[in-house]
Amino acid sequence: MRIGILTGGGDCPGLNAVIRAVVRKGEAEHGHEFVGFLHGWRGVMEGETIPLSIDTTRGILARGGTILLSSRTNPYRSEDGPTQVRATLARLGIDALIAIGGEDTLGVARRLGEEGVAVVGVPKTIDNDLSATDVTFGFDTAVQTAVDAIDRLHTTAESHDRVMVVEVMGRHAGWIALHSGMAGGANVVLIPERPFDIDEVVAHLEARHGDGRHSSIVVVAEGATPKEGTLALQAGGVDDFGHARLGGIGNLVTDAIAARTGWDTRATILGHVIRGGTPTAYDRMLATRFGLGAIDAVDDGDFGVMVALRGTDIVRVPLADAVAELKTVPPERYAEAEVFFG
Ligand code: F6P
Repeated sequence: MRIGILTGGGDCPGLNAVIRAVVRKGEAEHGHEFVGFLHGWRGVMEGETIPLSIDTTRGILARGGTILLSSRTNPYRSEDGPTQVRATLARLGIDALIAIGGEDTLGVARRLGEEGVAVVGVPKTIDNDLSATDVTFGFDTAVQTAVDAIDRLHTTAESHDRVMVVEVMGRHAGWIALHSGMAGGANVVLIPERPFDIDEVVAHLEARHGDGRHSSIVVVAEGATPKEGTLALQAGGVDDFGHARLGGIGNLVTDAIAARTGWDTRATILGHVIRGGTPTAYDRMLATRFGLGAIDAVDDGDFGVMVALRGTDIVRVPLADAVAELKTVPPERYAEAEVFFG
């Protein structure tokens, strides 16, 4: 078979490990040929490709980002996008596609699958917000990078009696903020699922600062929002999938705490730092197992599915289930973090 592979959406540690595993098993055990589409769905629309083989994918296991490059292009945004996709696949003689991405990339895969394209999905996002899999690769690396940063920020917070506000990624789901906040010993964690009241945040910090010291760590997800009518957020642009470009809540919270308390309060926006760099061992393993599972699905002719982690097993779920709803932080998980507020 001739199989195309693409990576879409934000880059993510472990993408190269998936590509390597797919190609290694597909070529060595089944004699398949591979074509890499560049820049996600854009490369499929425009026929932008590179050859992929065991030889060209050597040495990429530990490399962050994606050798296939990425974009947030949505073929369904233009009238002839899906036609262009089908034309490229026919012209290049592609029998099946493996799409590695988050809800947007896999949403496109689902629609194309329903329209007859042979496609298998692999879940990717540092945000860990895909509901059909227990975990997505990239999440462990992102959390570890954020925790490393928080550990370092504790030093300045303590030495200078400062409140350090740390903004981490997480547009719709607060998993990264929750896990890095709990593992990093944060004093308050703010997530998109739970609009916050800045006066309550200050009350937590005041309770903690009762001993005359003013050092605290506040972790805030980029998608966290203030309760209506409390703090005004500035709106940014939107991407091809209609998502707002975020960033700004960390500074807003910092200024609000400083204005209400007079404490020396500083913001650190971790941004893309937590999405970059080499994957942790956990993410390399998960990504590799997803890659092996994806090529097995193609080999079985089992299309319209996504590989997923359930417990310790790699299973297949319908792509439709994979993108049906986002996995957000449930109240009971947030309550576990609240034990440590203040
Ligand atoms: O892919 C998920 C994500 O990491 C979100 O947490 C974040 O909002 C978004 O990507 C940022 O993407 P971009 O780099 O395209 O601005």
